[in-house]
Amino acid sequence: MTNIYAVILAAGQGTRMKSKLYKVLHPVCGKPMVEHVIDQISGLHTEQIVTIVGHGADKVKAQLGERSAYALQEEQLGTAHAVIQAEPMLAGKEGCTLVVCGDTPLIQTSTMEALVKHHVETGAKATILTALAEKPDGYGRIIRGADASVSRIVEHKDATDEERAINEINTGTYCFDNKALFDALKNVSNENVQGEYYLPDVIEILKAAGEIVSAHQTDSFDETLGVNDRVALSEAERIMRARINEQHMRAGVSIIDPLNTYIGSDVEVGADTVIYPGTILSGKTSIGIDCVIGPNTEVSDCAIGDRTVIRQSATFNSEIGADVNIGPFAHIRPESFIHDEVKIGNFVEIKKAVFGKGSKASHLSYIGDAEIGSDVNIGCGSITVNYDGENKFLTKIEDGVFIGCNSNLVAPVTVKKGAYVAAGSTITNEVPEEALAIARARQVNKENYVQKIFSKND
Ligand code: UD1
Ligand code: CA
Repeated sequence: MTNIYAVILAAGQGTRMKSKLYKVLHPVCGKPMVEHVIDQISGLHTEQIVTIVGHGADKVKAQLGERSAYALQEEQLGTAHAVIQAEPMLAGKEGCTLVVCGDTPLIQTSTMEALVKHHVETGAKATILTALAEKPDGYGRIIRGADASVSRIVEHKDATDEERAINEINTGTYCFDNKALFDALKNVSNENVQGEYYLPDVIEILKAAGEIVSAHQTDSFDETLGVNDRVALSEAERIMRARINEQHMRAGVSIIDPLNTYIGSDVEVGADTVIYPGTILSGKTSIGIDCVIGPNTEVSDCAIGDRTVIRQSATFNSEIGADVNIGPFAHIRPESFIHDEVKIGNFVEIKKAVFGKGSKASHLSYIGDAEIGSDVNIGCGSITVNYDGENKFLTKIEDGVFIGCNSNLVAPVTVKKGAYVAAGSTITNEVPEEALAIARARQVNKENYVQKIFSKND
């Protein structure tokens, strides 16, 4: 098998994005475009991957880490100039070099594999991946000769009206004979409308030298979409979203309305889970089997056990066990650990709290900086008073405790095992095991008070 090297072009600023964020770092379904590209290249068993960085080099390197080697393109003089930066790492190597743009996030391993196969079989020095585009504007056009073989690529900006009418486009993915690539790059000039060194010019140069140049046309234009602006970014997002949702559905997840369900690239969902419309699952989220998520629910960076139900709620960076019932309208904030069989009902906010097995906060509570044991019942409207304006303090509620409605637990405070807190209490001191704490004013009834007021006014 031929050695395969890969070069990812990722040095551009992406002016057309009109963004402070470097183009290839813009996320598609939660993952930067360039990372999608490297994920798919990684499926190819390459000898080496070199990413060309320039604008935002440090950020791109931090994102991809050790998955790639890097070459710095200090000035962005064009795609051919970008590839030349990889020469110190790749020159003289036997094998073929795939060049992929960091702004084509939808490209798939199988398509690159087919491109390499075609390249090897045709004995070409260069093979271009082409596609038919409904709206080819902005792309380089494939110019074929009388014998239908590719003779050159013309950039949209340099093309005549006749050439612009061609809808076969250069996808920006190529496979080259490694040595022929670096030899030909030396002859690329920048005499064109943009004054840039164009990588596609290598095709014409090799052809003129009598080498075989071939083209592999993919029937999936979608996969080759180049993202240059926010409109294309949203298009890429739509296509990627459909792809991700389809994978989950094929793996046994029910998605009621895939057009209205947003699942990130790295999210895992177990079989027989049902996802209702308006749900956003993002980050490193994993969801067990037989769960019900949504409608209108956001789950970000959470691990969720089996058979858990989360309705109309938002949960962030937390662990949630099995058979848990959350919502509607609950908010689980970061660093919460919700054990199995817990119930978090409507208008309950949880922050940095542990909830032991089988515990409940069914209505209208705020539980922050707290350790709740198992089988605890937190009555409606009860809250932890965790903040004195400067510092946060811990509330501990041990196993089997019953907190009556509308209680304030002023932290730091502990309610010991099996204790009861009477409704309306403001607890400032430890409650001993199995005690009943009542901390509220006694009721006073003033007999006939109302009548007295009215008689005075007469
Ligand atoms: C490029 C192709 C075009 C093709 C299209 C496919 C050229 C000249 N044109 O056009 O034929 O149809 O992709 O999407 O190659 N980059 C660098 N350094 C540079 C310039 C660009 O690293 O000096 C990187 C960019 O970050 C980007 C990629 O190369 O990831 C492509 O550059 P871009 O400016 O987007 O090229 P297009 O105009 O889209
Ligand atoms: Ca582009």
